[in-house]
Amino acid sequence: MNISPLQKARYEYTPKLPGMLRHGIADICVKEGEATQSVADQDKIKALFPNTYGKPEITFEKGQNTSAAKKQVVGVILSGGQAPGGHNVVCGLYDALKATNPENVLYGFKGGPSGLIEDKYLIFDDEYINEFRNTGGFDIIGSGRTKLETEEQFAIASEVCKKHGITAIVIIGGDDSNTNAAVLAEYFAAHNTGVQVIGCPKTIDGDLKNEDIECSFGFDTATKTYSELIGNIERDCNSAKKYWHFIKVMGRSASHVALECALKTQPNICLVSEEVAEKKMSLSQIADYIADSVAERSANGMNFGVAIIPEGVVEFVPEFSVLIQEINELLAGSKADEFNALPTWADKYAFIEKGLTKESMAVFAILPQAIQQQLFLERDPHGNVQVSLIESEKLFSALVKDKLEARRAAGTYSGKFSPLHHFLGYEGRCAFPSNFDADYCYSLGYNAFMLIQYGYNGYLSKVSNLSAPASEWVAGGMPITKMMNIERRHGEDKPVIRKALVELDGAPFKYFESHREEWAKDTCFVYPGAIQYYGPTEVCDITTITLALEHQK
Ligand code: FBP
Repeated sequence: MNISPLQKARYEYTPKLPGMLRHGIADICVKEGEATQSVADQDKIKALFPNTYGKPEITFEKGQNTSAAKKQVVGVILSGGQAPGGHNVVCGLYDALKATNPENVLYGFKGGPSGLIEDKYLIFDDEYINEFRNTGGFDIIGSGRTKLETEEQFAIASEVCKKHGITAIVIIGGDDSNTNAAVLAEYFAAHNTGVQVIGCPKTIDGDLKNEDIECSFGFDTATKTYSELIGNIERDCNSAKKYWHFIKVMGRSASHVALECALKTQPNICLVSEEVAEKKMSLSQIADYIADSVAERSANGMNFGVAIIPEGVVEFVPEFSVLIQEINELLAGSKADEFNALPTWADKYAFIEKGLTKESMAVFAILPQAIQQQLFLERDPHGNVQVSLIESEKLFSALVKDKLEARRAAGTYSGKFSPLHHFLGYEGRCAFPSNFDADYCYSLGYNAFMLIQYGYNGYLSKVSNLSAPASEWVAGGMPITKMMNIERRHGEDKPVIRKALVELDGAPFKYFESHREEWAKDTCFVYPGAIQYYGPTEVCDITTITLALEHQK
C-alpha cells in the first residue's frame, strides 16, 4: 500500500489518555456518583426505561481494578456521517480490550448499524488495526445511516450477538444513534441477553453536547480544516481586493460549525441560524443585513469581503419553512406526476403560482431561478424538498445583488460586487484527526471498554475537562437516559437525546455578537493556517474557541 509521509509519521503518534487511565488496566478503579434523572419528562422516561433509568454517573480513578474476570467479545459500529477520530475510538477500544485479556475479541460490524442486522463483520487483529491509527475516515469498517430502532431489528441483533458470544456493543454515533443505543440497551436488559451497550459521542456538527458531554468528537478537526480554508480565502480576498466570497459550511441543523469558524477567522459576516429563527428574520432582512456590510465596506474603498453561511440556515427562516411545507403539499401524491408532465418552466411556474399561498409565492418570486428550479426538481424519495441541497450561498449572494442594485438605483450605492461561492463540507469530515481529536477519541474508546469491563449498560463514554491538558481530563460514563427528554417526532412522542443548538445567551455567541459589527466594517481577518500535528503545544494541542469560551473559569 502506498501511504503518505504524514500517514507514516502519524502511525507513530501515541495518543494521550486522561491522567487517571495512564497507570495501566490493573490500576483503574471505579467511583459511582449519585443516581441520575433525565433532564426532563422524568416519569415518562423512567417508565420507558425501567431497567436502565436512574443509574449513577461513573468516574474512573487510579486504584485497584476490581472488575470481574470474564472473556469479553465486543462488537463496534460506526453510525452516520464521518467524523475525524472515529478510527482512534476503535483503536482505543481494541487496545484496552486486549490489554485486559489477550483472549478478548473485537468484532467490527461493516457499513454502519445495518452490519449488525445483516451479520457483516470483520474481526480485528493488530496488523489490521495498526493501519488505521491516528488516521481520518471511517473506512476501517465503513459507516451507514440505517437506524436501529424497531423491536424486530433488536431481536435480530440479539440473535447475532448470541451467535458470536458477543457481550457488548459499542455504537459510535450522534444524538439519534445514541438515543437508539439507549433503547437497544433497555431491550437487551429487559430480555436478559447479558449484552451491554455503550455509546460514544460523534458528529462534526457539534450538536451532541450538554452539561455532561462537553463536545462531540470530530468537531475540532473539521472546524480547524474549514477555518484553514476560510483563512486562505480571506488572505486571497485581502490580496486581490475584488471579490466577495460566500462560503457555506456544513452542519445539517445547528450553527456550531459556522460560529466556531467565525471565531477563528473573523469574517465580515457569519449568519447564525438560531438567531435568524429567534428574530424571525425574513430572507429580505438577511439580505439587507449582508448588503449593509458590502455597501459600507465599498464606501471605504473595500469592494471585497467574506461571508459564512451555515448549511441549515434556510430551514430557520420562518417564511422559507412555510414555503417548503407548501411545496411538499403541492407535489404530494399524484400531483407530482401532473407537475412533471408540464413541458416548460413557464407552465410549471404557472402551476406553482396557482398552488402556493400569496405569502409563499412572494417568497418564491424573489428567489433566483436556479434555486426555484432546485426546490421543485430535486426531491427525496418521499417527494420532499431536499433542503440540504439548496445552494444557500448562491441564494444569499443573489439576494444581496438585488438589494445593491436597488440601492444603486436609489443613488445610495455605487460600488462593485463580484461574488464567488464555496461549499466546505466533505473536505473536513475525514481529515487526519488533530492531536485533540486523536487523543479524545482514543480516550473515548479506551474508556468505553472500561465501562464494559465494569458491567455498565446504556452509558455514554464520557471524557470531560477537555479545555485543560489531557493529563487533567476526567474519564467516566453517564447513563444515556440522563440526557433524554420527550419530543414530538413524526407525529409521535419519542424519548430522545436533546439536540444542542447554538445558545444565543452562551459565551461563544456573545463573544461573536460583541465583535461582529467591527468585523463587518473593517478587515479583521485571522489566518489560522493548517492543522499542525508536530510542534509547540499551544499550536498543536489547543482545541476549539467554543470549548474554551464555554468553559472559561
Ligand atoms: P452526522 O450527524 O451523522 O454526524 O452527520 C452530519 C453531517 O456531516 C452534516 O453536517 C451533513 O449535513 C450531513 O452529515 C451530510 O450527510 P451525508 O454524508 O449523508 O451526505
